Amino acid sequence: MPTVSTPAAVLHCIDKGPATAPAVVLLHGFPVHAGMWAAQLDALSDTHRVIALDARGFGGSPRTGPYSIDTLADDVHALQRELNLGRFALAGLSMGGYVALAYASKYAQDLRGLVLVDTKPEADNAEAKETRTKSAQTARQQGAKPIADTMLPKLIGQTTANTRPQVVAALRQMMEAADPEAIALAQEAMRDRPDRTAMLGSIAVPTLVVCGDADTITPPDLMRKMHQAIPNSRFELIPQSGHMTPMEQPEAVTRAMEAFLGTL
Ligand code: MLT
Repeated sequence: MPTVSTPAAVLHCIDKGPATAPAVVLLHGFPVHAGMWAAQLDALSDTHRVIALDARGFGGSPRTGPYSIDTLADDVHALQRELNLGRFALAGLSMGGYVALAYASKYAQDLRGLVLVDTKPEADNAEAKETRTKSAQTARQQGAKPIADTMLPKLIGQTTANTRPQVVAALRQMMEAADPEAIALAQEAMRDRPDRTAMLGSIAVPTLVVCGDADTITPPDLMRKMHQAIPNSRFELIPQSGHMTPMEQPEAVTRAMEAFLGTL
Protein backbone atom coordinates (compact mmCIF):
# COMPACT_ATOMS: atom_id res chain seq x y z
CA MET A 1 0.00 0.00 0.00
CA PRO A 2 1.67 3.24 -1.08
CA THR A 3 2.19 6.29 1.01
CA VAL A 4 2.02 9.54 -0.91
CA SER A 5 3.78 12.56 0.53
CA THR A 6 2.08 15.77 -0.47
CA PRO A 7 3.27 19.23 0.56
CA ALA A 8 0.59 19.26 3.30
CA ALA A 9 0.30 15.69 4.56
CA VAL A 10 1.44 12.11 4.30
CA LEU A 11 -1.41 10.08 2.87
CA HIS A 12 -1.83 6.34 2.81
CA CYS A 13 -3.88 4.65 0.13
CA ILE A 14 -4.64 1.31 -1.48
CA ASP A 15 -3.87 1.53 -5.20
CA LYS A 16 -5.18 -1.39 -7.25
CA GLY A 17 -5.68 -2.13 -10.95
CA PRO A 18 -3.87 -1.21 -14.17
CA ALA A 19 -1.94 2.08 -13.85
CA THR A 20 -3.12 3.18 -17.28
CA ALA A 21 -6.83 2.43 -16.72
CA PRO A 22 -9.30 5.25 -15.90
CA ALA A 23 -8.90 6.16 -12.24
CA VAL A 24 -11.51 6.01 -9.48
CA VAL A 25 -10.77 7.46 -6.03
CA LEU A 26 -12.78 6.13 -3.07
CA LEU A 27 -13.25 8.16 0.14
CA HIS A 28 -14.36 6.36 3.28
CA GLY A 29 -16.89 7.33 5.93
CA PHE A 30 -16.45 8.14 9.62
CA PRO A 31 -14.87 6.66 11.71
CA VAL A 32 -13.53 3.89 9.50
CA HIS A 33 -10.86 3.67 6.80
CA ALA A 34 -10.18 2.69 3.19
CA GLY A 35 -10.78 -0.98 4.08
CA MET A 36 -14.54 -0.36 4.00
CA TRP A 37 -14.24 -0.38 0.19
CA ALA A 38 -12.58 -3.84 0.04
CA ALA A 39 -15.27 -5.42 -2.17
CA GLN A 40 -15.35 -2.51 -4.64
CA LEU A 41 -11.52 -2.38 -4.74
CA ASP A 42 -11.44 -6.02 -5.78
CA ALA A 43 -14.23 -5.89 -8.34
CA LEU A 44 -13.63 -2.51 -9.97
CA SER A 45 -9.86 -2.93 -10.30
CA ASP A 46 -10.35 -5.38 -13.20
CA THR A 47 -11.21 -2.40 -15.38
CA HIS A 48 -10.10 0.67 -13.41
CA ARG A 49 -7.23 1.98 -11.39
CA VAL A 50 -8.94 2.12 -7.99
CA ILE A 51 -7.42 4.20 -5.21
CA ALA A 52 -8.94 4.06 -1.74
CA LEU A 53 -7.53 6.84 0.41
CA ASP A 54 -7.21 6.91 4.20
CA ALA A 55 -8.15 10.38 5.46
CA ARG A 56 -5.78 12.09 7.89
CA GLY A 57 -5.58 10.13 11.14
CA PHE A 58 -7.49 7.07 9.84
CA GLY A 59 -6.14 3.71 8.65
CA GLY A 60 -2.50 4.23 7.71
CA SER A 61 -2.53 8.02 7.25
CA PRO A 62 -0.82 9.90 10.08
CA ARG A 63 -2.89 12.34 12.07
CA THR A 64 -2.29 16.08 11.80
CA GLY A 65 -3.71 18.98 13.79
CA PRO A 66 -7.13 20.55 13.20
CA TYR A 67 -8.32 20.57 9.58
CA SER A 68 -11.47 21.24 7.62
CA ILE A 69 -13.46 19.17 5.13
CA ASP A 70 -11.98 21.47 2.46
CA THR A 71 -8.50 20.44 3.64
CA LEU A 72 -9.42 16.81 2.97
CA ALA A 73 -10.51 17.83 -0.54
CA ASP A 74 -7.12 19.55 -0.96
CA ASP A 75 -5.48 16.26 0.08
CA VAL A 76 -7.36 14.43 -2.68
CA HIS A 77 -6.22 17.08 -5.14
CA ALA A 78 -2.60 16.64 -4.01
CA LEU A 79 -2.99 12.87 -4.41
CA GLN A 80 -4.38 13.36 -7.91
CA ARG A 81 -1.28 15.36 -8.87
CA GLU A 82 1.23 13.08 -7.10
CA LEU A 83 -0.20 9.97 -8.79
CA ASN A 84 -0.77 11.69 -12.14
CA LEU A 85 -4.37 10.57 -12.26
CA GLY A 86 -5.59 13.10 -14.80
CA ARG A 87 -9.38 13.41 -14.80
CA PHE A 88 -10.88 10.79 -12.54
CA ALA A 89 -14.12 9.59 -10.95
CA LEU A 90 -14.54 10.41 -7.26
CA ALA A 91 -16.72 8.38 -4.91
CA GLY A 92 -17.38 9.16 -1.25
CA LEU A 93 -19.49 7.62 1.47
CA SER A 94 -21.03 9.95 4.04
CA MET A 95 -18.04 11.93 5.41
CA GLY A 96 -16.27 10.92 2.19
CA GLY A 97 -19.26 12.38 0.35
CA TYR A 98 -18.86 15.69 2.20
CA VAL A 99 -15.28 15.71 0.94
CA ALA A 100 -16.36 14.74 -2.59
CA LEU A 101 -18.80 17.67 -2.68
CA ALA A 102 -16.06 20.00 -1.42
CA TYR A 103 -13.85 18.62 -4.19
CA ALA A 104 -16.54 19.23 -6.81
CA SER A 105 -16.77 22.82 -5.55
CA LYS A 106 -13.05 23.50 -5.69
CA TYR A 107 -11.66 21.26 -8.41
CA ALA A 108 -14.52 20.47 -10.81
CA GLN A 109 -12.10 20.44 -13.76
CA ASP A 110 -10.42 17.24 -12.44
CA LEU A 111 -13.58 15.19 -12.37
CA ARG A 112 -15.05 12.76 -14.91
CA GLY A 113 -17.81 11.60 -12.62
CA LEU A 114 -19.04 11.70 -9.05
CA VAL A 115 -20.50 8.94 -6.86
CA LEU A 116 -22.27 10.13 -3.72
CA VAL A 117 -23.01 7.25 -1.38
CA ASP A 118 -25.20 7.65 1.73
CA THR A 119 -24.31 11.29 2.15
CA LYS A 120 -25.91 14.73 2.07
CA PRO A 121 -25.12 18.33 1.14
CA GLU A 122 -26.73 19.98 4.18
CA ALA A 123 -24.66 21.42 7.03
CA ASP A 124 -25.34 20.39 10.62
CA ASN A 125 -28.02 22.20 12.59
CA ALA A 126 -27.25 23.57 16.07
CA GLU A 127 -28.25 20.34 17.81
CA ALA A 128 -26.09 18.17 15.53
CA LYS A 129 -23.13 20.52 16.04
CA GLU A 130 -23.55 20.20 19.81
CA THR A 131 -23.67 16.39 19.52
CA ARG A 132 -20.41 16.44 17.55
CA THR A 133 -18.70 18.62 20.14
CA LYS A 134 -19.75 16.19 22.87
CA SER A 135 -18.70 13.18 20.79
CA ALA A 136 -15.24 14.74 20.25
CA GLN A 137 -14.95 15.22 24.00
CA THR A 138 -16.03 11.61 24.67
CA ALA A 139 -13.45 10.29 22.19
CA ARG A 140 -10.68 12.36 23.80
CA GLN A 141 -11.64 11.31 27.34
CA GLN A 142 -12.78 7.71 26.86
CA GLY A 143 -11.37 6.51 23.54
CA ALA A 144 -13.00 5.01 20.46
CA LYS A 145 -15.14 2.30 22.08
CA PRO A 146 -18.04 4.45 23.31
CA ILE A 147 -18.16 6.11 19.89
CA ALA A 148 -18.36 2.70 18.21
CA ASP A 149 -21.02 1.54 20.70
CA THR A 150 -23.21 4.58 19.99
CA MET A 151 -22.73 4.68 16.23
CA LEU A 152 -22.79 1.03 15.22
CA PRO A 153 -26.55 0.42 15.59
CA LYS A 154 -27.25 3.57 13.57
CA LEU A 155 -24.86 2.69 10.75
CA ILE A 156 -26.22 -0.70 9.76
CA GLY A 157 -29.64 -1.84 8.63
CA GLN A 158 -31.76 -4.50 10.33
CA THR A 159 -30.98 -7.12 7.64
CA THR A 160 -27.25 -6.73 8.17
CA ALA A 161 -27.66 -6.78 11.96
CA ASN A 162 -29.71 -9.98 11.76
CA THR A 163 -27.95 -11.93 9.03
CA ARG A 164 -24.39 -10.71 8.47
CA PRO A 165 -22.47 -10.87 11.75
CA GLN A 166 -19.15 -10.81 9.90
CA VAL A 167 -19.95 -7.37 8.44
CA VAL A 168 -20.99 -6.06 11.86
CA ALA A 169 -17.78 -7.44 13.38
CA ALA A 170 -15.58 -5.94 10.65
CA LEU A 171 -17.23 -2.56 11.07
CA ARG A 172 -16.90 -2.65 14.86
CA GLN A 173 -13.24 -3.64 14.55
CA MET A 174 -12.49 -0.67 12.26
CA MET A 175 -14.34 1.76 14.51
CA GLU A 176 -12.77 0.57 17.75
CA ALA A 177 -9.30 0.69 16.19
CA ALA A 178 -9.73 4.35 15.19
CA ASP A 179 -7.42 6.84 16.86
CA PRO A 180 -9.50 8.81 19.44
CA GLU A 181 -7.91 12.15 18.58
CA ALA A 182 -8.54 11.50 14.85
CA ILE A 183 -12.19 10.82 15.72
CA ALA A 184 -12.38 14.12 17.60
CA LEU A 185 -10.72 16.11 14.79
CA ALA A 186 -13.02 14.58 12.16
CA GLN A 187 -16.11 15.37 14.26
CA GLU A 188 -14.95 18.99 14.53
CA ALA A 189 -14.28 19.20 10.78
CA MET A 190 -17.75 17.78 10.00
CA ARG A 191 -19.38 20.06 12.57
CA ASP A 192 -17.89 23.11 10.89
CA ARG A 193 -18.51 22.11 7.27
CA PRO A 194 -20.50 24.52 5.11
CA ASP A 195 -23.84 23.80 3.50
CA ARG A 196 -23.31 22.65 -0.11
CA THR A 197 -26.94 22.61 -1.22
CA ALA A 198 -26.56 25.71 -3.38
CA MET A 199 -23.75 24.22 -5.49
CA LEU A 200 -25.59 21.02 -6.47
CA GLY A 201 -27.11 22.61 -9.56
CA SER A 202 -23.66 23.51 -10.86
CA ILE A 203 -22.28 19.96 -10.79
CA ALA A 204 -21.68 19.33 -14.48
CA VAL A 205 -20.26 15.80 -14.44
CA PRO A 206 -22.40 12.66 -14.51
CA THR A 207 -23.26 11.75 -10.93
CA LEU A 208 -24.48 8.55 -9.31
CA VAL A 209 -26.38 8.89 -6.03
CA VAL A 210 -26.52 5.66 -3.99
CA CYS A 211 -28.63 5.12 -0.87
CA GLY A 212 -29.48 2.17 1.35
CA ASP A 213 -33.25 1.78 1.63
CA ALA A 214 -32.98 1.53 5.42
CA ASP A 215 -30.41 4.31 5.89
CA THR A 216 -31.58 6.42 8.83
CA ILE A 217 -28.59 8.80 8.85
CA THR A 218 -29.02 9.99 5.25
CA PRO A 219 -32.44 8.55 4.38
CA PRO A 220 -33.71 7.91 0.84
CA ASP A 221 -36.01 10.97 0.82
CA LEU A 222 -33.12 13.28 1.61
CA MET A 223 -30.87 11.65 -0.96
CA ARG A 224 -33.56 11.71 -3.63
CA LYS A 225 -33.81 15.46 -3.08
CA MET A 226 -30.05 15.76 -3.62
CA HIS A 227 -30.29 13.67 -6.79
CA GLN A 228 -33.11 15.90 -8.09
CA ALA A 229 -30.93 18.98 -7.54
CA ILE A 230 -27.95 17.56 -9.50
CA PRO A 231 -28.66 17.96 -13.24
CA ASN A 232 -26.95 14.92 -14.75
CA SER A 233 -27.55 12.41 -11.97
CA ARG A 234 -29.12 9.03 -11.44
CA PHE A 235 -30.44 7.52 -8.22
CA GLU A 236 -29.88 3.96 -7.07
CA LEU A 237 -31.75 2.62 -4.04
CA ILE A 238 -30.00 -0.39 -2.51
CA PRO A 239 -32.41 -2.87 -0.91
CA GLN A 240 -31.84 -4.27 2.58
CA SER A 241 -29.11 -1.85 3.53
CA GLY A 242 -28.52 0.82 6.14
CA HIS A 243 -25.91 3.58 5.91
CA MET A 244 -22.87 1.40 5.12
CA THR A 245 -24.07 0.16 1.72
CA PRO A 246 -20.64 -0.72 0.22
CA MET A 247 -20.09 -3.14 3.13
CA GLU A 248 -23.69 -4.22 3.71
CA GLN A 249 -24.64 -4.93 0.09
CA PRO A 250 -21.26 -5.03 -1.68
CA GLU A 251 -22.44 -6.77 -4.84
CA ALA A 252 -25.33 -4.36 -5.44
CA VAL A 253 -23.15 -1.30 -4.85
CA THR A 254 -20.39 -2.66 -7.07
CA ARG A 255 -22.91 -3.40 -9.84
CA ALA A 256 -24.33 0.12 -9.66
CA MET A 257 -20.84 1.65 -9.72
CA GLU A 258 -19.67 -0.60 -12.56
CA ALA A 259 -22.68 0.31 -14.69
CA PHE A 260 -22.19 4.01 -13.96
CA LEU A 261 -18.42 4.04 -14.55
CA GLY A 262 -19.01 2.24 -17.84
CA THR A 263 -20.96 5.25 -19.09
CA LEU A 264 -18.20 7.81 -18.42
C1 MLT B 1 -20.24 8.74 8.20
O1 MLT B 1 -20.71 7.63 7.96
O2 MLT B 1 -19.22 9.16 7.62
C2 MLT B 1 -20.91 9.61 9.24
O3 MLT B 1 -22.19 9.11 9.51
C3 MLT B 1 -20.96 11.03 8.79
C4 MLT B 1 -21.52 11.95 9.82
O4 MLT B 1 -21.32 11.74 11.02
O5 MLT B 1 -22.15 12.94 9.42
